[in-house]
Amino acid sequence: MKDISVTIYTKCYEYNELNNIHKQLVDKAKQTAKLAYSPYSKFNVGAAVLLDNNIIVVGNNQENAAYSLVLCAERVALFSANSHYPNNKPIALAIAAFNEDGFLKTPISPCGACRQVFVEVEQRYNQPFELLLYGEQGTYVFNKATDILPFSFSQIDL
Ligand code: THU
Repeated sequence: MKDISVTIYTKCYEYNELNNIHKQLVDKAKQTAKLAYSPYSKFNVGAAVLLDNNIIVVGNNQENAAYSLVLCAERVALFSANSHYPNNKPIALAIAAFNEDGFLKTPISPCGACRQVFVEVEQRYNQPFELLLYGEQGTYVFNKATDILPFSFSQIDL
């Protein structure tokens, strides 16, 4: 038997410490969260993806009375980016969320399904993208989106 351990590393920035591109992405994610369709959860999430052509594509969560059909903001944004600009690599993705108490104080935590999509996108473009998880008290900045899904399943496991 041997122990195997995985360490997850992130940086946590106050908003004013973010660089201008990161600030812009966080701002777009926050704005886009306001346009979410979330009548059931009342939990509004926005995402903004920066591509290597400098275009920013946004998305927000889209809910349905048949709850299992809900699509998360980050998947809406990434799928939209990948469908409009299939040849442009994602460079960075910012996510922000608010509920009736306002924007989350601690960073939004993407669901497992979205993390699995991050893995696919990084593999598809053969390049990691930065992941920014916004919180009022600090934004986590991961160098690679797949950092938050250790032991993931991907095409190399097939
Ligand atoms: N949601 C997202 O859009 N992104 C996340 O990272 C977490 C959850 C959405 C799905 C659903 O519309 C609502 O938030 C509550 O789960």
